[in-house]
Amino acid sequence: MKIALINGSPKVKYSASELILNELKNFFNNSENEVNKKLSICEYSFRSTKLDNNVVEEIINSNVLVFAFPLYVDGVPSHLLKCLVQLEEIFNNIKEKDIKVYALANCGFYEGEQNKLALEIFENWCIKCNLTWGQGAGIGAGPILHSVKNVPIGHGPKKNLGKALNIISDNIIKSSKDNNIFVKANFPRFAYKIAGEMGWKKAVKVNNLQIKDLYKRL
Ligand SMILES: Cc1cc2nc3c(=O)[nH]c(=O)nc-3n(C[C@H](O)[C@H](O)[C@H](O)COP(=O)(O)O)c2cc1C
Repeated sequence: MKIALINGSPKVKYSASELILNELKNFFNNSENEVNKKLSICEYSFRSTKLDNNVVEEIINSNVLVFAFPLYVDGVPSHLLKCLVQLEEIFNNIKEKDIKVYALANCGFYEGEQNKLALEIFENWCIKCNLTWGQGAGIGAGPILHSVKNVPIGHGPKKNLGKALNIISDNIIKSSKDNNIFVKANFPRFAYKIAGEMGWKKAVKVNNLQIKDLYKRL
């Protein structure tokens, strides 16, 4: 089984989507030996608005596509949307295909449900391309993943994320379909809000902007 892990974040570094895909990959590596041997995992980063022909070729020859991407304005980042449109045209010219699609959306808001519409965009894209929708995950508090990078998955603030990735990796290996999962970080909402506000204030200073405007809004 050929699995394409696609990072749809435009970021070159510090991408939460990348961290999520890395954690997912570990679940594949830890799967039973026989299953593991049959998996071929290829990794891609879609950072521009157009995919190279060789990447397109590899994507259309995969059995499973797993997209991890950030939520942008309640939707899919525009560069990724353009790549999806490019792939849609290609998929529509292929008759025989049996490809399952899974999507892991992460967002800045605390609640994973914020990603619901973006996952629906992917589901609709599957219908347009005649691909099979497998499952989606909406992951809240994405930016926190960097600060807890070294916490083992399934523990502390990454407890719920671990549970979700365990279910999804299992469904991917079995090629099963399942309901979307919405993940809440195991971290208090108020503490996430305080950390976020501190981050904004720091960014305002670093960029030589006016901090008083920010204080007025708090
Ligand atoms: C242009 C832009 C738009 C965003 N829109 C939203 C949004 O509508 N809702 C939300 O919860 N987070 C939003 N975010 C936050 C990102 O989804 C969040 O930081 C995410 O963790 C980034 O993932 P990445 O590191 O993989 O790129 C936005 C970020 C940017 C830069």
